[in-house]
Amino acid sequence: MRKKIVAGNWKMNLDYASGVSLFSEIVNMVRDEKNGDQIAIICSPYIHLNSLAKLGGEVVKIGAQNCHQNDNGAFTGEISAGMVKSVGCEYVIIGHSERRQYFAESNELLAQKTVKALENDLTPLFCIGETLDERNNGSYFEVLKTQLEQGVFGLSAADFSKVVIAYEPVWAIGTGLTATSAQAQEVHAYIRKEIAAKYSNEIAEATSILYGGSCNPKNAAELFAQQDIDGGLIGGASLKSRDFVDIVKAFNS
Ligand code: 13P
Repeated sequence: MRKKIVAGNWKMNLDYASGVSLFSEIVNMVRDEKNGDQIAIICSPYIHLNSLAKLGGEVVKIGAQNCHQNDNGAFTGEISAGMVKSVGCEYVIIGHSERRQYFAESNELLAQKTVKALENDLTPLFCIGETLDERNNGSYFEVLKTQLEQGVFGLSAADFSKVVIAYEPVWAIGTGLTATSAQAQEVHAYIRKEIAAKYSNEIAEATSILYGGSCNPKNAAELFAQQDIDGGLIGGASLKSRDFVDIVKAFNS
């Protein structure tokens, strides 16, 4: 059985007090309302992580949105995977399209970050996704394959088995344009096929593949009902406790 996961990505939103307050609400609601064995995660800005990890306990897990590829040293302003782990985080987003686009993170760099995350016992939520141009010109399968090959397919089978993949079409992020459930399912099935070809059917079947991009309480149930969609990576809707928790609950509705 694959793990079902709903991870919120707060991006660069919420000051400290607002983040702690929203997270407390989410924890209480998830504790009272969760209707299955799905895992709820919040990936907050670094400044919240320490406090949220102490508040969340077993109910809502904590993730960072990035980490550096080195252990420590003269990298002013950066945060290592070990530091993230040391405050009680269990997850880290790697390769979000905003990191790729605005911070010029290459597949090669992201491969290094993934290794560091795994060395520090963090579960990478490794993001891949095509732009609108790449979707329209039909090159998206090739683009996704390259992101997988250069980003995570260098890992051993044992290490790859610890990775969660998130398919986030860039054209659907923050645009209100959601991939249809059929478009998302087509890509998720493709990703699983590529994992099977690289590793094994068994590993492919055990890998959780999340969808991200304008996922909301209205469309989550249909997306999560698709055979190869194992949950979501949620941006805007994770900033509202009711919306996020309704998405967490969308598996069984
Ligand atoms: P939105 O849900 O706001 O489209 O963002 C998706 C995303 O980028 C999650 O990482």
